[in-house]
Amino acid sequence: MKIGVLCSGGDAPGMNACVRAVVRSAAARGHQVVGIRRGYRGLVEETFYVGESGGIELTPRDVSDWGRHGGTFLHSSRCPEFLEAEGRDRAASAMAKHGLEALVVVGGDGSFRGATAFSQHFSGPIVGCPGTIDNDLLGTDFTIGFSTAVRTATEAVDMLRDTAESHERMFLIEVMGRHSGYIAAITALAGSAETVCIPETPTDVPAMVDYLRRLKKRGKSSVMMIVAEGDEAGGAEILHRKLEEAGCPFPMRVLILGHLQRGGCPTPEDRVLATRLGDAAVSAILDGKSGVMAGVVGRETVWTPFEQTYARHKPIAPEFLELLDRMAH
Ligand code: ADP
Ligand code: F6P
Repeated sequence: MKIGVLCSGGDAPGMNACVRAVVRSAAARGHQVVGIRRGYRGLVEETFYVGESGGIELTPRDVSDWGRHGGTFLHSSRCPEFLEAEGRDRAASAMAKHGLEALVVVGGDGSFRGATAFSQHFSGPIVGCPGTIDNDLLGTDFTIGFSTAVRTATEAVDMLRDTAESHERMFLIEVMGRHSGYIAAITALAGSAETVCIPETPTDVPAMVDYLRRLKKRGKSSVMMIVAEGDEAGGAEILHRKLEEAGCPFPMRVLILGHLQRGGCPTPEDRVLATRLGDAAVSAILDGKSGVMAGVVGRETVWTPFEQTYARHKPIAPEFLELLDRMAH
């Protein structure tokens, strides 16, 4: 069997490790893999990764040492053409033309919506691996890239604490996550932040200022506030202005971490997760599964229908939010 693999949507550290696992797992079972470049755009435009052999089949040697590199060597894209049936038809024709009998999609919720739509045009197996730093997909405890994004954000908080202490300031640090507060919540706990603003809980500015006044009175000399970019208060810059107007007792500075969280050498956790999921995706295809995402829940590898991975907002456990609250006092 010849399997196509692509990385789609926002790139994530660990995507290369996942593609490496797909190639190595398929080869170990006597099957071939073709690397599709730039996500769905590569299918629409028929652009493939050329390996050392000069052909478009990825060999185990081609993916040597991919595991430790962030980003995606296949490149990724956001492909508006794939939103149209005509684009998906062209993609299906490309699959047939190049003898691709199955597809592994490494991406986020949008990529899996695309995979669901593509299944109306391509009858072969399609299996997904959750490659996004957002950790906003149901059916897996964590997504590939989340661990590395949290490491990056936590290191930033640690460094900012030094200058915040030196000048007795408060920092509002905005992290990614799109509509999810997962990166912000975990970073806040790991970075011993005094407060966090996430879409999953209401952001009450007056109550926040009262809390900050209590911290100041208790002798707190620096404050870290982690802000999820999707927070209903509008992100760090807007929240900064609201806190200023409400009489925040600390001088404030804002830092938006942005795409720093998308790069870097993947953590061992991301590399292992990516390897498990890439291998599981190949197993799923060979077992006749389709329309599912491979995930790890607890210690188990599980497969979840695409539609269920993005059907609703992935909640943050209330007990985790309570822990966060207890640690911030
Ligand atoms: P992510 O997978 O990281 O959430 P996007 O939301 O950009 O990233 O989705 C990646 C790509 O998937 C899009 O650029 C588009 O090509 C495709 N896609 C997303 N949603 C759909 C959809 N509803 N139908 C068809 N293709 C889609
Ligand atoms: O989905 C991953 C993500 O990094 C989100 O957290 C963020 O909002 C978005 O992608 C940024 O998209 P782009 O890289 O296209 O600016």
